[in-house]
Amino acid sequence: MRARPARGRQAFAWHYLRVSGVLIVALVFVHLFVMHYASLPSAATAAFVGARWAAAGWRAFDWMLLLLALTHGVVGAHAMLRDVARRPLSRTALDVTAGAVTAAFLGLGTAVILMAAPPGDRGPLSSYTWIPSLLTGGLVTIATAAYVGVLAAGAALGMRLARRDPIGRWNYPGQWMFAINRTAGAGVLGFLLVHVLDVALFPFAPDLYDRTVAAYAMPYLIPMEAGLVAAVVYHAFDGLRLMLLEALDRRASRMAAPSFIALVVLTISLSLPALAVLLGWRP
Ligand code: HEM
Repeated sequence: MRARPARGRQAFAWHYLRVSGVLIVALVFVHLFVMHYASLPSAATAAFVGARWAAAGWRAFDWMLLLLALTHGVVGAHAMLRDVARRPLSRTALDVTAGAVTAAFLGLGTAVILMAAPPGDRGPLSSYTWIPSLLTGGLVTIATAAYVGVLAAGAALGMRLARRDPIGRWNYPGQWMFAINRTAGAGVLGFLLVHVLDVALFPFAPDLYDRTVAAYAMPYLIPMEAGLVAAVVYHAFDGLRLMLLEALDRRASRMAAPSFIALVVLTISLSLPALAVLLGWRP
């Protein structure tokens, strides 16, 4: 749990993460339900998006989700990177990058939500057939990095345990909760940025947008998609747990092991239906 800074921009970031975290919970779970439990990401075709955005309420919903998830994620990633970037020049570069990423992705996402789709299948970018390949390549790269990271961390831990080497702070559930919370938050932000780019194809080239979302049905990407649902569920409940402990003014240590177990059980239980749907099960 990050200590509350007394004042300044770090205090603002600390409060913003909490306020936006609370505001985003309902939006995130409705989004998960619609896209991952009641449907499939690969079924969110141009026809699906067009029908959804015909309703002003869904446009407002998606824009609020974009605004809160993007700003919360960037403020969180900025706070994480600030812990390692200690020199004034690196911190300035970090501030500039965070501002530029927020402005670019919020601007693009807002424009796409406001724009109507072109009449028919094709749009002004439809001849740029390399775009879906590039976006699919980005998704495959994210998935590969996630699989290699999980396997490498598992192998390193397994070897230490097999050799009975000390595992230091990894003996403590609090360390696992902290590391998984950060990895999940950063992973969801990374995916959100790619997702804004793929949805941006919708008004400019609905045919290429359809080709890009079809990639979500690739078996290679399915573990990553299930992992993303798990990352969102874990991060959301862990964030709520942290805020509850802070409100009650309790230290996490005594409750660390039971709350870690509860978080893992909750995450697995709420992610399994999404995995079943991804694997072809229909209610
Ligand atoms: C769904 C509801 C969510 C809740 C309740 C929530 C809650 C929180 C809280 C309380 C923190 C501060 C943790 C601390 O100070 O130690 C935090 C950090 C963070 N969140 Fe979220 N969050 C949510 C969704 C998201 C989403 C959708 C993203 C990505 C777009 C995200 C990315 C991050 C990142 C990168 C951090 C920084 C992690 C760190 O500094 O340890 N969060 N979140």
